[in-house]
Amino acid sequence: MGSMSDSYFWPMQEGINEVIATTRFHAAPMGIICRDERVMMAVFRTSHTAVLIEETGMVVANIIHDPVLFVRTAFSDLESAELTEFEVADTKVCRLSCADSWVVYRSRIEQKTELKLLVRLDPVQIILTQTTMTPINRGLNSIIEASVHGTRYVNTRDPDLKQLIDHHVDLVKRCGGERELLALRLLLEYIG
Ligand SMILES: Cc1cc2nc3c(=O)[nH]c(=O)nc-3n(C[C@H](O)[C@H](O)[C@H](O)COP(=O)(O)O)c2cc1C
Repeated sequence: MGSMSDSYFWPMQEGINEVIATTRFHAAPMGIICRDERVMMAVFRTSHTAVLIEETGMVVANIIHDPVLFVRTAFSDLESAELTEFEVADTKVCRLSCADSWVVYRSRIEQKTELKLLVRLDPVQIILTQTTMTPINRGLNSIIEASVHGTRYVNTRDPDLKQLIDHHVDLVKRCGGERELLALRLLLEYIG
């Protein structure tokens, strides 16, 4: 049997990995897409993250499981103490202060459409210190789902999205713990 680090994408996994991406002093949830021996991000050009990736050529993928931070970074800015600056390959980057695992990627724009940047990522630093296992919790998963839909819903008010969000709200109430319930309260405030 191969070791965990045998994967081309390590420490990410094949498919889409939901992380909190930090670019300069900015944080937002983003998907790291791992397929066909390529690590990529597809970033809407309306986001600050897209602008900052173009400016800096670096992005840090913070690997965390806190639902509250996913919601807060999806809809608002963090306090400056919640980000920690450090240097990698003579370049200053930021990570979430509370993250104990992250990957610093150098980014290259592969494609730029009116809507999105398609960004190729190459790891320059991998720090993994998390030692605990995280069992699957459907409440946490549903916070992630509701947040993804919520970031679109705030702009469109699309009733189909609202229905999807409501489904996930029920699941969070049924399966979530204290942190998921706090994240849910914040999410509902942000989306109004
Ligand atoms: C779990 C999750 C994953 C997301 N993945 C992406 C993504 O891959 N690309 C993207 O452009 N937006 C993605 N979003 C939406 C952005 O996080 C959201 O639009 C955010 O407000 C952008 O923030 P910014 O403008 O401050 O960069 C995702 C949201 C969530 C909750």
